[in-house]
Amino acid sequence: MITQSPETSESDTLTPAAARAELERLARLIAAANLSYHTLDAPEITDADYDALKRRNASIEARFPDLKRADSPSEQVGGAVVSGFGKVAHRVRMLSLENAFSADEVVDFDDRIRKFLNHDGPIDYTAEPKIDGLSLSLRYEGGRLVQAATRGDGETGENVTANALTINDIPKTLQDAPEVLEVRGEAYMSHADFAALNEKQRQAGDKTFANPRNAAAGSLRQLDASITAARPLRFFAYTWGEMSAPLADTQKDAMERLGALGFQVNPETVLCHSPEDLTAHYARIEAQRATLGYDIDGVVYKVNDLALQGRLGFRSTTPRWAIAHKFAAELAWTRLLAIDIQVGRTGALSPVARLQPVTVGGVVVSNATLHNEDYIAGRDAKGGAIRDGKDIRVGDWVQVYRAGDVIPKIADVDLSQRPDDAQPFQFPHLCQECGSPALRDEGDAVRRCTGGLICPAQAVERLKHFVSRAAFDIEGLGAKQIEMFFKDPELPIHTPADIFTLAARDGQNPWKKLKNRDGFGEKSVTNLFAAIEAKRVIPLDRLIFALGIRHIGEQVAALLARHYMTWDQFEAGATSGTPGNPAWAELTAIDGIGDVVARSLTGAMQNPAERAAVDRLVAQLTVQPVAPRMTTGSPVAGLTLVFTGTLEKMSRSEAKARAEALGAKVAGSVSAKTDLVIAGPGAGSKAKAAEALGIRTIDEDEWLALAGQT
Ligand code: IVH
Repeated sequence: MITQSPETSESDTLTPAAARAELERLARLIAAANLSYHTLDAPEITDADYDALKRRNASIEARFPDLKRADSPSEQVGGAVVSGFGKVAHRVRMLSLENAFSADEVVDFDDRIRKFLNHDGPIDYTAEPKIDGLSLSLRYEGGRLVQAATRGDGETGENVTANALTINDIPKTLQDAPEVLEVRGEAYMSHADFAALNEKQRQAGDKTFANPRNAAAGSLRQLDASITAARPLRFFAYTWGEMSAPLADTQKDAMERLGALGFQVNPETVLCHSPEDLTAHYARIEAQRATLGYDIDGVVYKVNDLALQGRLGFRSTTPRWAIAHKFAAELAWTRLLAIDIQVGRTGALSPVARLQPVTVGGVVVSNATLHNEDYIAGRDAKGGAIRDGKDIRVGDWVQVYRAGDVIPKIADVDLSQRPDDAQPFQFPHLCQECGSPALRDEGDAVRRCTGGLICPAQAVERLKHFVSRAAFDIEGLGAKQIEMFFKDPELPIHTPADIFTLAARDGQNPWKKLKNRDGFGEKSVTNLFAAIEAKRVIPLDRLIFALGIRHIGEQVAALLARHYMTWDQFEAGATSGTPGNPAWAELTAIDGIGDVVARSLTGAMQNPAERAAVDRLVAQLTVQPVAPRMTTGSPVAGLTLVFTGTLEKMSRSEAKARAEALGAKVAGSVSAKTDLVIAGPGAGSKAKAAEALGIRTIDEDEWLALAGQT
């Protein structure tokens, strides 16, 4: 935590040399704060401290205009620091991993895989430590390292080639490698190097890092690669992206091949033959955790046979063939100072614990979630006791835990330490932001503000969601700037459409107002408006997700987009759907869309106020339709298929995944829109409906021939 800076007037007494040094220090601190806030999503200083740094910087610049730096923080909006990196579109997406926290979940993982593959015998897996660093993709062409990129949002990362070239563990050339090879793995810092770096930083009066992961991230993402070069980063290879020729037939052999090519591969990688083997290796690695010399946060299991990996494929952001078995959470005790209620984008009232700061597993924690009012009261959703029925009160001595990157939670309370005057917490029944009643639906653990868009908290949270990474992802317009514009009397942003009218409202060429603001300048305003302009053209799935409708996350948005293909068709379906009519039937026939999602979507699109905001937004945009995934070479591209009856050679899930990979849509019921029905033994009403409608019906063997799997 940074201590509050002295009053701004102190700049009057600075000598020019001291001012220069101080501007440099402030630029570094603000850049680090921007990085942790905007890019690592792990703010390390409070907003007040951040603002104080910016004010101090501005005041010194005002007094010594000649000393203003080329990279002055006052010329940058929020995340601008990292925007200096070029963008790299990953040719093969960089995925994340599903998590397991118990041996039972590992058994489930193995069951799911065998079911998906319709495979009775055992499956072999590799097991290796999950390194707690940041992932990198290294592209080699003709045996030369030509590009290094961070993961970013998985689709687009940042070009950090110059920085990667300074890391010893990363080979610059490869002998006997495929012509194109993308090697992926984790950049990290060892415990010893981390301690030495922090000591050096401390002695130089520079910021120290909270943990090796932050140190690795902060070191790699330096615009000045000579800083990276001076930082002791390491790299473990564990997977690959694009490749002109396969490395091997199995994961284990592929790792060995990467080792032979000159990469560090983790020596704790073993081959396992059952879930029991996997958990036994997990226990061995956990026992070694403290002595490995670098941070790990679990063990990763991967199906060994690469042909099976190929069949298993991916869900939207994670592979089906791998899982991360995470280590148990880290714990600490501290005092609960206050309980604040935050209102989220869907109106949910979320209680947040404000804590006496405490270190939990190397990270300072001062906030934790308290879930909902029942959790505070010591009951579960069904009224049963949790924590033996102990409630949580302000002033209590509470146990905090965090597992991996998730938000810390409160696990327990020590009643022997409860202050005598501690009162049971009264959960509000009115929204403190807008005064609307906050209600609980039957069976819902969450109390929600009913204010909708009139609630400023909901409106601002929706805007933050709208500009977030998986939604519009507008560079230079993050949560911080949204907060600022939301309150701006002159150039307000209250709904998403306002983002796209901002430039026009600022007088557009020459800009009038924004460029003279604290924290902005001609250049940053031009950049901001260009970044907004660039997002006027937006893919349909991103737009649907960005609307922030309850129950419509990234995956559901993708399903809806893939089904309706264009905004007009989506809008027509969602606007006219009511239970029982054809539009509703079409919506709920989409595999993965049930009544709850359908009700939420149609409810939002048919609500006059919400709808007006959506229409105003869409009028500003060009919505890109969804292209069929594969239009050539696939006999089922663009068709709507229905599977019915029993499939014997592949599971229903594999068949569905395969069909979608070939560019088809899979529906749950037969309608006039169905093109092809695949009927296995035992097919009943769906096959009959297909016959009645004259829809082509084939059996499993014909399907396998079509899908290219015979
Ligand atoms: S495999 C397609 N193996 O964990 C799967 N990931 O939580 C690619 N990670 O994004 C990942 N150690 O950055 C894999 N041995 C390991 C890993 C590992 C660390 C990271 C990786 C991934 C994240 C998911």
